[in-house]
Amino acid sequence: MFTFVKILVVGSGAREHAIIRALVMGGDEVIAAPGNAGISREVPSVPLDIADSAQIAALAASEGVDLVVIGPELPLVNGAADAVRAAGIACFGPSAEAALLEGSKAFAKQVMAAAGVPTAMARVCTTMQEVDSALDGFGAPFVVKDDGLAGGKGVVVTEDRQSAADHAQQCLHRPGESAVVIEEYLDGPEVSLFAITDGVSVVPLQPAQDYKRVGEQDTGPNTGGMGAYSPLPWAPVDLVDDIVNRVIQPTVDRMRLDGIPFSGLLYAGLALTSRGLRVVEFNARFGDPETQAVLARLRSPLGPVLHAAATGTLAAAEPLHWSADAAVTVVLAAENYPASPVLGDVINGDERADALPDVQVLHAGTALAADGNLVSSGGRVLSIIGTGGDLTQARGRAYAGVAEISLRGSHYRRDIAQGKG
Ligand code: AMP
Ligand code: GLY
Repeated sequence: MFTFVKILVVGSGAREHAIIRALVMGGDEVIAAPGNAGISREVPSVPLDIADSAQIAALAASEGVDLVVIGPELPLVNGAADAVRAAGIACFGPSAEAALLEGSKAFAKQVMAAAGVPTAMARVCTTMQEVDSALDGFGAPFVVKDDGLAGGKGVVVTEDRQSAADHAQQCLHRPGESAVVIEEYLDGPEVSLFAITDGVSVVPLQPAQDYKRVGEQDTGPNTGGMGAYSPLPWAPVDLVDDIVNRVIQPTVDRMRLDGIPFSGLLYAGLALTSRGLRVVEFNARFGDPETQAVLARLRSPLGPVLHAAATGTLAAAEPLHWSADAAVTVVLAAENYPASPVLGDVINGDERADALPDVQVLHAGTALAADGNLVSSGGRVLSIIGTGGDLTQARGRAYAGVAEISLRGSHYRRDIAQGKG
């Protein structure tokens, strides 16, 4: 029998806000670090440098939590989960070594090759000579990826060979980077599937689709994500099983057999191409903004399954129950996001929108100014989620929520959940 636990959630985005609401709804006691202005209205929040793994472990110990849930990739790649576990506290999130599945595209490609997981053909290049030959070999459209973490913005997909070569050159010259990945272009709709794992068993969540480009009709630069929806009515009925059997389970098994067990959340970003599904990327944590849509549909408590994954008991966990409803997330971004977001503008109407039926407003880049005003403090400011009987109803509610909110210079995409993104 599961008893409620005290959980520290590390991070400050709308993804963490969604995780926190799901945990609180399930009856758990939650503290957030560092959180944001919206999160601190709902649970106690304490300052934290998320890049400091020792500080995370010390906070977990001093607060006497039973479980730490790490939201973003940076602390995972830095070893925050290792530090928390070394302090004798359960942690939802992979070790630094296992988080390389996200932290190094070259490492992810090696694991996929060893596990027989379908992905784009790729070449890891360390010189411009290798880059030129790879670009010529694959042809246009060109796909050029920073090897390391880049917040979703390190990938350039372009028809223009010169821009492709320029991005590769920049990646090779980034401090601490020595490799750039050039790969085959994958055509077809993209799907995000999250799976909770303890390194052995796998529990998939519901699939979602994310909108990465800043502009409508997928124009402009890539962002951290401008919107998402779930479920995917157009997807094959066996999609989730197929991804678990061909991608998630083989990867989890390979990592364990290689002595780098992956526990936490394995996020597969896939393209459904004319030649079958292919992995575009792995991430080592919940995706943002898909999590906001996916968790809006979760009917089971979230705490027990995260705790089970963190303690190696996932096989015995209760199955998850999902609402048949649809959920749509629209991201409200600051002026000039993603290039150089303008911060410090006053936000109005978020609580009014959050109070609408079947609408939630989750905070990301928000802070309280000295005068008590809610102001923008990050590129992605708010996630507005609508739920309903189908995607049309859910998206109508999400945009009705957006309409309540004012933030000077802000922008959002009006085409979220309209067709395959
Ligand atoms: P990633 O950071 O690897 O997820 O890439 C960000 C985005 O770039 C993906 O969601 C895709 O939209 C696009 N992308 C990445 N790799 C490819 C590829 N091989 N073919 C086509 N698009 C890609
Ligand atoms: N939704 C994209 C990401 O979380 O990386």
